[in-house]
Amino acid sequence: MAGENRLRIGVVGSGRMGSGIAYMLAQAGNAVSLFDTDPASLELLPERFDSIAGLLGHDGAALRRINSSTDLATIVQKADMVVEAAPEKLELKQSLFSQFDELTPTHAILASNTSAIPIASIAKPVRDKSRVIGTHFWNPPHLIRLVEVVQSDPDSGPVIAKAMAILGGAGWTPVHLKRDIPGFVGNRMQHALKREAIALVAAGVCDAETVDTVVKMGFGGRLGVIGPLEQSDMLGLELTQNIHNVLLPDLDVTPHTQDHLNNLIAEGKLGMKTGEGFRSWTEEQADEVRNRLDNFLAEQARKMARNN
Ligand SMILES: NC(=O)c1ccc[n+]([C@@H]2O[C@H](COP(=O)([O-])OP(=O)(O)OC[C@H]3O[C@@H](n4cnc5c(N)ncnc54)[C@H](O)[C@@H]3O)[C@@H](O)[C@H]2O)c1
Repeated sequence: MAGENRLRIGVVGSGRMGSGIAYMLAQAGNAVSLFDTDPASLELLPERFDSIAGLLGHDGAALRRINSSTDLATIVQKADMVVEAAPEKLELKQSLFSQFDELTPTHAILASNTSAIPIASIAKPVRDKSRVIGTHFWNPPHLIRLVEVVQSDPDSGPVIAKAMAILGGAGWTPVHLKRDIPGFVGNRMQHALKREAIALVAAGVCDAETVDTVVKMGFGGRLGVIGPLEQSDMLGLELTQNIHNVLLPDLDVTPHTQDHLNNLIAEGKLGMKTGEGFRSWTEEQADEVRNRLDNFLAEQARKMARNN
């Protein structure tokens, strides 16, 4: 490899995730190239990059280091690392990884940003499976600075270590997951919380707005500074045990999508885009939530940049 700070990295898929991932990797000094089958998506890149640079208070100089093409070979044939962020379809990802196997140098790390597909399935067409890992970024990847680095092959240790160094150098906090399990770690916890939230509303304990208020004004406020297990350690494990003795038998354990969610969807209540989901939304209210989230995440990212 050409040194940890000036690597050749190909990003495959230039949508919501790929564009943010490419931006961050280029900002860190890597030579980044983006591939997409859709020229229209590549044409949107300057606008997307300008908006990310604006959010992060950058001058946009890194953007000059990003190339793009609709020819896959051009993007990956000299790559030290490829990050795949194409649509979430197994056959499509397998076909891409089969081409990476043919086209990339044998030292190249092959990473998928899949949300849910097992890494081992994506790696099927690749001869040396130890090159294939998961890199689960969060949306938007330029603002949420966590990446779950997922090991699937037992021999991937050195590849995982290199990937973590590259991603850490580009401003993310990489965490190593030693097993390739559905939802990785973050989405498992996020959806365990959502299952309980839906159950509470369905049981008439409170409405959806109240659930959101309890999280935002209650324990959610401290989650950015103290994790759940850190908090148990702080308070003493016996407290967690006492609470679990009473609470765990009462928590929702529905092993499939809940009726309340299925019924809303069947009624066409799909969330902000249809004006109603768990809650009702005017256009103005929906815009206010989106802006609130963008501004909060951008401020967090700027704070992190100032502290580094
Ligand atoms: N959006 C999220 O919240 C999120 C979070 C984490 C992971 N992911 C995962 O990241 C991946 C990409 O998601 P996204 O939200 O950026 O999707 P997106 O639809 O915004 O972008 C996908 C891009 O891939 C391009 N594409 C289509 N076929 C292709 C091909 N054969 N080769 C290369 N590019 C192709 C599309 O033109 C598009 O530009 C998915 O696997 C998704 O599950 C998404």
